[in-house]
Order: sequence, then structure tokens, then C-alpha cells
Amino acid sequence: MSPAPATGAFVVFEGGEGAGKSTVIAAVAQHCRDAGRDVVTTREPGGTPTAEAIRDVLLAPTAEPMSDRCEALLFAAARADHVAKVIRPAIGRGALVLCDRFVDSSLAYQGFARGLDVAEVRQLSRWACDGLVPDLTIVLDLDPGVGLARARDGNRMEAQGLEFHRAVRAGLLALAAEAPSRYAVVDAGAALPAVVAAALAAGRSFMEQP
Ligand code: TYD
Repeated sequence: MSPAPATGAFVVFEGGEGAGKSTVIAAVAQHCRDAGRDVVTTREPGGTPTAEAIRDVLLAPTAEPMSDRCEALLFAAARADHVAKVIRPAIGRGALVLCDRFVDSSLAYQGFARGLDVAEVRQLSRWACDGLVPDLTIVLDLDPGVGLARARDGNRMEAQGLEFHRAVRAGLLALAAEAPSRYAVVDAGAALPAVVAAALAAGRSFMEQP
């Protein structure tokens, strides 16, 4: 008898600047591949040629800031392409998708921090990704003062003040508190092996199934 087909899963990593998401995702992905899982790692904004082009527009330092609604629409547009072309097909074939940022980044940055209406940004994102909801979101939580000192790519968001990044953090924690069964908050100030172990423990039921 052939083995039962793997069930796809969608796990998102969120966190402020310098929280170490990409390092933690790489370690978690390696662990899950070693356990025999088909793993796709991807990131937002980005993940397709169109979404990467939108990323360049969004993150480049500009002479004149774009309007808040333009920014929210561009993040949502990049997400629409990414979900349709990469994330849904991968989940559909039974892969584990590990995504660096998703809808909650829009809620935290464009909603809580920029001040757009969170419910409206949520509605926009829900439409963009045709209702896709992560199975689990792992929030790598870190004091923004520590995170900004670690972060180094100098993008437009990093250039925002500490208050902005405090609002991002508070937003992510509020979203996690709203739906605790779909979130895990991990202390990203701990040593890397402990952060990776906590992420794996939180996501075991989705990550390790072959
Ligand atoms: P990136 O260099 O990928 O940052 P990080 O390594 O911290 O993830 O840049 C992504 C930036 O875009 C980051 O500052 C968060 C921001 N962002 C939003 O403001 N809204 C969104 O919906 C997403 C996905 C990202």
C-alpha cells in the first residue's frame, strides 16, 4: 500500500525588525526536511517575480513618502500574486510552507503602526489572498530597541522611529492574544537554539508530519 499523501500546512513567522526570522526559518526548514517533509520557504513582500518587483518599490528609500493607502494596496497586491502562484499550489501538493511575514505584518505595520483602520486592512488582505488563513503563526517577539540595533538592511520601514516599531510589536501581540489557538509567541531575545526549539515545539503537529 502506498503511504497516505502528506497534508499541506501553512506556518507563518512574524516579528519586528531584527527578530531573526530568516535565521530561525532556515533552521526550522532544515529540521523538517531532515524529517522527510517537503518544505517551501518564502517571504513577503516577494516570492514571485511580480511580487519581488513590488517589493523593490515598497522598500526602497524614496525622496517623497508614498501615501499610507498606496503602501497598503501594494503589500496586498504582492500578497495576492504570492498566494495564488506559490503558497496555495505548494499547500495543495502537500508541502509545508514556511512564510516570512504575511497578513499580520500588514495589520501591524499599516494598521496598528501607520494608523490605517485595522479591520479595513484585514478585509483588503483577506480579499487579496482569497481567504487563506495560516494554520499557525509564530511571533518572534523582541524589544524593538534591541531588534533595530541588530537590523541592518536600511529599508524604508527600518527608518521609522522607535514608537512606530513599538506599535508594530504591540499589534502583533494583540493579534496573537485574539486567537491563541492559532498563534505561538516565542521570546526572540533567547539564544538561537532555544528560539528554534520553541518554534519547533509550537509547530510540531504541522511541521513534522511526513
Ligand atoms: P524585510 O527586509 O524583508 O524585513 P524583515 O527582514 O524585517 O522581514 O522588509 C520587509 C519590511 O516590510 C519590514 O519592515 C516589514 C514591512 N512589511 C509591511 O510593512 N507590511 C507587510 O504587509 C509586510 C509583508 C511587510
